[in-house]
Amino acid sequence: MPATVIVGTQWGDEGKGKFTDLVAREMDLVVRYQGGHNAGHTLVVGGESFALQLVPSGILYDDITTVIGNGVVVDPRVLITEMDMLEARGVDTSRLRISGNAHLILPYHQELDKVSERWLGKAKIGTTKRGIGPAYADKASRVGIRVQDLLDPSIFRQKLEAALREKNAVLAKVYNQLPLDADEICAEYLDVCAPRIAPLITDAVGLVHEALESGKNVLLEGAQATFLDLDHGTYPYVTSSNPVAGGACTGAGVGPTQIDRVIGITKAYVTRVGSGPFPTELDDEVGNMLVDRGHEFGTNTGRRRRTGWLDAVMLRQAARVNGLSELAVTKLDVLDTLDTIKMCVAYEADGERYHHMPYHQSVLHKVTPVYEELPGWRTDLTGMTERSQLPREALDYVAFMEEQVGVKVTLVGVGPGREQFLRFDG
Ligand code: GDP
Ligand code: IMO
Ligand code: MG
Repeated sequence: MPATVIVGTQWGDEGKGKFTDLVAREMDLVVRYQGGHNAGHTLVVGGESFALQLVPSGILYDDITTVIGNGVVVDPRVLITEMDMLEARGVDTSRLRISGNAHLILPYHQELDKVSERWLGKAKIGTTKRGIGPAYADKASRVGIRVQDLLDPSIFRQKLEAALREKNAVLAKVYNQLPLDADEICAEYLDVCAPRIAPLITDAVGLVHEALESGKNVLLEGAQATFLDLDHGTYPYVTSSNPVAGGACTGAGVGPTQIDRVIGITKAYVTRVGSGPFPTELDDEVGNMLVDRGHEFGTNTGRRRRTGWLDAVMLRQAARVNGLSELAVTKLDVLDTLDTIKMCVAYEADGERYHHMPYHQSVLHKVTPVYEELPGWRTDLTGMTERSQLPREALDYVAFMEEQVGVKVTLVGVGPGREQFLRFDG
């Protein structure tokens, strides 16, 4: 069976975790293909909420193998804490596997993330300070340390000492920080983490392909989103990996011909955490209402999310760069109380109208959104289970989104719970 990709179409937190958990029901393998513990994926099952950072969102099913792919950056300390949290709550993590080719996040990555953000001052990116950017930078510079190095203490120490010679010089001389100690890091990573992680380390590419070859269903779960993508996002206000569907190929080791379904997850409005352009951002009582009703605070860092109207220009671009085969919409219920709802259908700047994303970032910074205003439904959607129960205005809103983006909507979320969704594809 070909694989399915789940990808964020905005700036993250669209509800990838919820729909991964939902779609995982039909899957045998769920693979996270990029990012690290900058992600916060929330699953709400039976009224219980699980916030996952590194563990793939298929973990709640006993019969699914979950895999942390080679494209992920792993802080093993965080992974162990997350596994312990899940086990303490009765979730079996014994089927979790980790690619030996995934790169490790080390304490100096986190330190460098913090101090470089401080150094940037007003120009800061607003990162999660988890060490993601510095870890991917080391991977690209070919000085990273990989998960498989945990299996060989002398190689790990050798690579660590080589890395620390440079990292400590930068930390001390550029940022005026205390140097990090190789023995302390080895004690944590080799003595505490390695024994826990070692049994999970595997040839993830082999695992994925054996599953595909034997007709099993494989789901590739993205973290972050299209507009946080290093190549396709609002650079430099992006993360340091490739969340787009193409990233699933490199981050899990599958070819494009092995993927036949790409589900783009979008909120019924837009949110963003951290700095960067946001054409439809609302700085008024509607924006505050979206924060309140949508509980728009970071799963991971607790930061208040910026909010705005749905932006079809962004979604058109997401449809293109990801090759979306369908859209899944979350949080339609958050719009329940509005009299009218706006959707951005184009941008204007300097007398020019843009239906597609302007390639030059300085244009994006100054665009004015062109809105269509649609009637609200003023009805509580949260208890609905069938598409036919939706008020006409809600159906029209979804239909207008499909028409604007040119992609079919197959699933609509009407609440955080696993059962709070409507099928639009049958
Ligand atoms: P992710 O990072 O894309 O997995 O998304 P997050 O978990 O960070 O943020 C999405 C938030 O919206 C979580 O708190 C979810 O429980 C919640 N959520 C997901 N779908 C829906 C929905 O349809 N309605 C409502 N009200 N909340 C939802
Ligand atoms: P999920 O998977 C929302 C944002 C940060 C910052 C930028 C770079 O839950 O959707 P980084 O720490 O990655 O170097 O930060 O990216 N960011 C996210 N925003 N959801 C996420 O993940 C994010 N992961 C990173 O806020 O603006
Ligand atoms: Mg999130």
